[in-house]
Amino acid sequence: MAVIAVYSMKGGVGKTTIAVDLAWRFSQTGGHNTLLYDLDPQGGSGFLLGHEERKLQRAVSAFHHNRAPRDLIEPTRYDGLSLIGADQSLRDLPVQLARIGSRKRLAQMLNFMKGEYSRIVLDCPPMINEVSEQIMEAADLIVVPLPASPLAARAFGFICKELAKNPGHPPVLPVLSMYDKRRKLHRWVRENAGANWPVIPQSSHVEQVAVRREPIAAFANWSPASKGFEHLHAALEAKLAQMGLAGTPGGGQRALPRPQAEPAATPASESARVVPIRESAPARQAAPNGGRQADRPDALRVPPPADDGLSRRAFSF
Ligand SMILES: Nc1ncnc2c1ncn2[C@@H]1O[C@H](COP(=O)(O)OP(=O)(O)OP(=O)(O)O)[C@@H](O)[C@H]1O
Ligand SMILES: [Mg+2]
Repeated sequence: MAVIAVYSMKGGVGKTTIAVDLAWRFSQTGGHNTLLYDLDPQGGSGFLLGHEERKLQRAVSAFHHNRAPRDLIEPTRYDGLSLIGADQSLRDLPVQLARIGSRKRLAQMLNFMKGEYSRIVLDCPPMINEVSEQIMEAADLIVVPLPASPLAARAFGFICKELAKNPGHPPVLPVLSMYDKRRKLHRWVRENAGANWPVIPQSSHVEQVAVRREPIAAFANWSPASKGFEHLHAALEAKLAQMGLAGTPGGGQRALPRPQAEPAATPASESARVVPIRESAPARQAAPNGGRQADRPDALRVPPPADDGLSRRAFSF
């Protein structure tokens, strides 16, 4: 079993969109029995998968002593993809966890489900508190979506600092999210700090995911945004294999939506190049503090990660 957390303390950066797409790809493309666990009271994951809001608000009950989250698991319309949806009861989760006093409650809960799921994807709330501590404890990999903005970079700095407290922290993969190559700031980040990060372009097709409540690959699998998600999924699988967490796909490749023909013209804003993570070595040298500082406006400077070891891990993944 591998636990992949999609986390940032910053809101609205694309966590839920990425978590749902990844869970969908792990199950449909990779054939892995996958559980998508929504830990955010907003309940966005269930919404994107077309689920109705639960009448009984009981998501927090999974964390009670002597309770397993199993009875909260719902099937989705996709074979091999299950969901533990969120509801407003999760607003009490930080208090609940403080009361329980175990830093590993989430990790223990997920361990119970080891045999059933080879991939568990956590859609995380935008907070840094007891919940995020549990997430960092439970995760094998942490994906951090980062739009090209100084505030997002600052939030990433906080995350790195928090992770650095634990020398055995899981590897971190920053993802340049909502990338628009027409914007100077976005291009700067893309060419400098984010040179070896996967890229998810800003795209009306991604917006449509929330309107249609289906994965992008179901209606625009030809689009650069869908290709960006595809590369992110491939990069994660490669990393999991390297970590000895490849697992065995339970159901083989499942029925994928029929590919659509690519329209003649693709909107300019969506033609971001997706950089495979394996190209990381040369790019690492161009990461923050790697020269060329002189021509960077101060506001665009990404804060250096907390320590060198972390920097190597975070930027090289
Ligand atoms: N690449 C993208 N292009 C265009 N719109 C996007 C992209 N990624 C996400 N969005 C849109 O941005 C909004 C926020 O995305 P999402 O809910 O995934 O972020 P989040 O980090 O989970 O937010 P929160 O912190 O509130 O949980 C949504 O309306 C989503 O459709
Ligand atoms: Mg979210």
